[in-house]
Amino acid sequence: MKGKKMSCISTLVVLAALSLLLGLSVVQAEDPYIYFVWNVTYGTIAPLGVPQQGILINGQFPGPNINSTTNNNIVINVYNHLDQPFLFTWNGIQHRKNSWQDGTPGTNCPIPPGKNFTYHFQVKDQIGSYFYFPSLAIHKAAGGFGGLRVNSRLLIPVPFDPPADDYTVLIGDWYTKDHRVLARLLDSGRSIGRPAGVLINGRSGKHHATGGDDVPLFVVEAGKTYRYRICNVGLRTSLNFRIQGHTMKLVEMDGSHTVQNVYDALDVHVGQCYSVLVTADQTPKDYYMVASTRFMKQVTTATGVIRYAGSKAPPSPVIPEGPVGWAWSLNQWRTFRWNLTASAARPNPQGSYHYGSINITRTIKLVSSRAVVAGKLRYALNGVSHVDPRTPLKLAEYFNISDKVFKYNLIGDKPPAAAAPVKLAPNVITAEFRTFIEIVFENHEKSIQSYHLDGYSFFPVGMGPGKWTRKSRTTYNLLDAVSRHTIQVYPKSWTAIMLTFDNAGMWNLRSENKERHYLGQQLYVSVLSPARSLRDEYDIPANAFRCGKVVGLPLPPPYV
Ligand SMILES: *[C@@H]1O[C@H](CO)[C@@H](O)[C@H](O)[C@H]1NC(C)=O
Ligand SMILES: *[C@@H]1O[C@H](CO)[C@@H](O)[C@H](O)[C@H]1NC(C)=O
Ligand SMILES: *[C@@H]1O[C@H](CO)[C@@H](O)[C@H](O)[C@H]1NC(C)=O
Ligand SMILES: *[C@@H]1O[C@H](CO)[C@@H](O)[C@H](O)[C@H]1NC(C)=O
Ligand SMILES: *[C@@H]1O[C@H](CO)[C@@H](O)[C@H](O)[C@H]1NC(C)=O
Ligand SMILES: *[C@@H]1O[C@H](CO)[C@@H](O)[C@H](O)[C@H]1NC(C)=O
Repeated sequence: MKGKKMSCISTLVVLAALSLLLGLSVVQAEDPYIYFVWNVTYGTIAPLGVPQQGILINGQFPGPNINSTTNNNIVINVYNHLDQPFLFTWNGIQHRKNSWQDGTPGTNCPIPPGKNFTYHFQVKDQIGSYFYFPSLAIHKAAGGFGGLRVNSRLLIPVPFDPPADDYTVLIGDWYTKDHRVLARLLDSGRSIGRPAGVLINGRSGKHHATGGDDVPLFVVEAGKTYRYRICNVGLRTSLNFRIQGHTMKLVEMDGSHTVQNVYDALDVHVGQCYSVLVTADQTPKDYYMVASTRFMKQVTTATGVIRYAGSKAPPSPVIPEGPVGWAWSLNQWRTFRWNLTASAARPNPQGSYHYGSINITRTIKLVSSRAVVAGKLRYALNGVSHVDPRTPLKLAEYFNISDKVFKYNLIGDKPPAAAAPVKLAPNVITAEFRTFIEIVFENHEKSIQSYHLDGYSFFPVGMGPGKWTRKSRTTYNLLDAVSRHTIQVYPKSWTAIMLTFDNAGMWNLRSENKERHYLGQQLYVSVLSPARSLRDEYDIPANAFRCGKVVGLPLPPPYV
């Protein structure tokens, strides 16, 4: 028995050595695959005590966690059992060379009711905490979201000891109105109004007026340290997250390892994810995790219980107060730093990418505005309020019929004069492949905003009150801003980001506030590789649906 096992192992070693040798010259060992089959259905849920129609994945709300490792190939066959077209998008997954899998209305035809579509993407060169959500209509208001984590490969050092366990904490505002009702409100020109409550992993907790329970979400052992991945999956509300009696050591955000500061509370804006380490070092009993709304007159709170194993003592009913005002939030943002010496997905330190010494080739200033167009509420960027054409932008571009579907660069790199009327149209800008661009978001409005860019992570180098000027650049952090995919812009303030547009594709730049996104505060960045080469971009996948004006068109010559 023993001898047989030994010989098996030595055969394996020889094989491994051989394949290594071969691998250098001939074959590249393919990265591992993980497969999922997801049935998307309606089902009744009552997270705030009010029964409503939820969107479930294999019967679950929230949806299942995707647990992956850097460079894994993820294959998800999605069956749409809803009565409406459906798509998932993968918040923060970069889809290198592959916007075909991004799952936005600008990149993919929707999955028709009763049909299935297999997403196939690689979590190339990424680590950290992400989530997925439905990208069409207001489906996100009914669920269909879940956590997506990318673990480090075995040989890549992680800048902290392995935690005793690793928990996903999805926080978000919640509406008890049906997603169709919310869409109708927006279609008729009104706002969706304030949320009815807040959820933590689909529950509001006993603390919420409409009920809930204190069944623990997590059970921990005294003395051990746990990782919590907190993502704001809500529709529009910034939330503050904290844990009774415990501090949180920040280790990662949106896929970057951070300098490990300790916080009592963290502001998590819509679309952002933070990883913290929390040591169970208090009197063994139950404790509340708390997520409460920010920047609203009336604070709404959700709680979830963390139990010390064996504890029978309930949590203290005294909920720690959240911070007030946005200056606190801005000051907290200023404390976030990239750990320059820590590795991310690659063995070399993440800080060896010196973004601060790259010359800016272009500055795009985007100013959001709220307008009433033909009696209806709209939101715009530089005067254009985006509408999705029936033909996805990426397909129109690929089949060389973009001139029949949209016009590039309707907006300029600067906002138009204030008086110009808002125009409704597909909002698509071009960015030259591999150029380093500065984007300034100016928010002249009274509410906080949160912007996300698909396909990339960027460096948020500066934020400040009022309007951005060239002089604002003197305040930039050109050394250790945390590379991430979603950033807030405070009321009457600006935020500046920098990035290299080195990922060819069609990428959505959007307000993560669903109401604003739905009503036009988004655009697409077309990053074309001039070569139509597989070196720069994958060809259209064989299973891509066709819709709109590209139905029946012959395939262009394949990329080479
Ligand atoms: C999905 O639904 C089909 C029927 O439509 C069923 O056969 C299959 O078992 C379901 N799969 C899962 C994972 O629930
Ligand atoms: C997730 O994947 C990692 C690495 O493969 C594994 O160690 C861990 O047990 C997995 N966790 C869950 C919850 O499946
Ligand atoms: C639908 O599922 C089938 C069965 O797994 C698969 O062969 C097919 O490619 C899927 N359809 C699409 C459009 O991905
Ligand atoms: C940064 O990462 C390094 C390398 O893993 C680690 O030793 C160090 O403690 C981290 N520094 C901070 C300030 O978190
Ligand atoms: C950046 O611009 C400066 C001044 O225009 C120039 O001297 C320098 O060589 C440029 N650096 C790079 C890396 O292109
Ligand atoms: C794309 O279409 C335009 C006309 O709309 C034509 O001039 C051009 O040659 C076409 N390009 C390719 C690559 O087919």
